Amino acid sequence: MSMLFSPYALGPLQLSNRIAIAPMCQYSAIEGIATDWHMIHLGNLALSGAALLIIEATAVVPEGRISPLDLGLWSDAHAEALEPIVRAVRRHSPIKIAVQLAHAGRKASSEAPWEGGANIPPDQERGWQTLAPSAVPHAQGETVPLALDREGLARVRDGFVAAAIRSSALGLDAIEIHGAHGYLLHQFLSPLANRRDDEYGGSLENRMRFPLEVFAAVRAAAPGMTVGMRISATDWVEGGWEIEQSVRFAQELKQLGCDFIHVSSGGVSPAQQISLGPGYQIAFAGRIRKETGMPTIGVGLITEPEHAESILQDGQADVVALARAMLFDPRWPWHAAAKLGDQVFAPPQYWRSQPREHKALFGETRLGQR
Ligand SMILES: Cc1cc2nc3c(=O)[nH]c(=O)nc-3n(C[C@H](O)[C@H](O)[C@H](O)COP(=O)(O)O)c2cc1C
Repeated sequence: MSMLFSPYALGPLQLSNRIAIAPMCQYSAIEGIATDWHMIHLGNLALSGAALLIIEATAVVPEGRISPLDLGLWSDAHAEALEPIVRAVRRHSPIKIAVQLAHAGRKASSEAPWEGGANIPPDQERGWQTLAPSAVPHAQGETVPLALDREGLARVRDGFVAAAIRSSALGLDAIEIHGAHGYLLHQFLSPLANRRDDEYGGSLENRMRFPLEVFAAVRAAAPGMTVGMRISATDWVEGGWEIEQSVRFAQELKQLGCDFIHVSSGGVSPAQQISLGPGYQIAFAGRIRKETGMPTIGVGLITEPEHAESILQDGQADVVALARAMLFDPRWPWHAAAKLGDQVFAPPQYWRSQPREHKALFGETRLGQR
């Protein structure tokens, strides 16, 4: 039996295999409210055979959206729009569902990528004033964010807490706090974005303070749920946030009852020099896992089942997450199971689909049995 298709407990959450679907913004919500696109998109991915589906970056306050089209969870109406989608997924798939709770900070108020992704200035109709640790723009010529004051920090933290409570009430299985890709919590961590001179800036301890406060508040608001954080292990910029600091941060999160670290990288500076290649972030996950003992999710250009299997065998991650490969081939886990000679969930409606040589692929993986 492969490791990829072996069960794993991510905190209190039992996963049937080690494949997660990484969070992917869909830019298809209206005022943060889920639409029929989310039903189709998440419904499709729910039949993939992956063990965990992480719903896209979901804004905890309206000004925390990357674009005007981002999903949100800042009111009960937002939760009500997600409820039938969660119910439908539950009815037809054993996949576990996480949500990524997010605040984009100074990278908010932007166009969707297919509209060019440009920063929308606050004086334009679709734009708004962005907020950040410091009044430092993401890139030259972009909106200068307002530095969050005490009241602003409390509003952000309370937004995360309220969204966590709604996630729990929706019956979601896990929360991933977005601390990566140059969004608000990463902006606090990185000296490239955080120039504060109060207790939330300067030393590593101070820069970690707000993200840790948010984590602790969410942890307390969702008892019994798996709660983890996605981080950028490095900024890929000289003098920026780097792997040694990520290890320290993971140790601090562990003390606070964090169930997993999802290890990504980059996003805080246009000066980043990323060395891209298959599994380019996996060594960071491996190091955090080894040095902290934290369960890790590895991600980034994992496209081959054998590669995913070797990452797990080598002890570099406990779970692998895929984003683009899952959109390109939403049955990736089926094909991986076929290749590795394993079994995977498929709904009974599709049980006649597999080629003859993979007759046993779907085994007895009925709903309710996993
Ligand atoms: C369409 C798309 C949307 C994405 N949206 C998010 C997001 O909402 N939150 C996040 O943390 N990462 C997001 N990412 C990054 C992915 O989760 C993932 O880390 C990245 O694509 C690398 O994995 P891959 O090589 O398997 O695609 C997005 C990526 C894509 C392609």
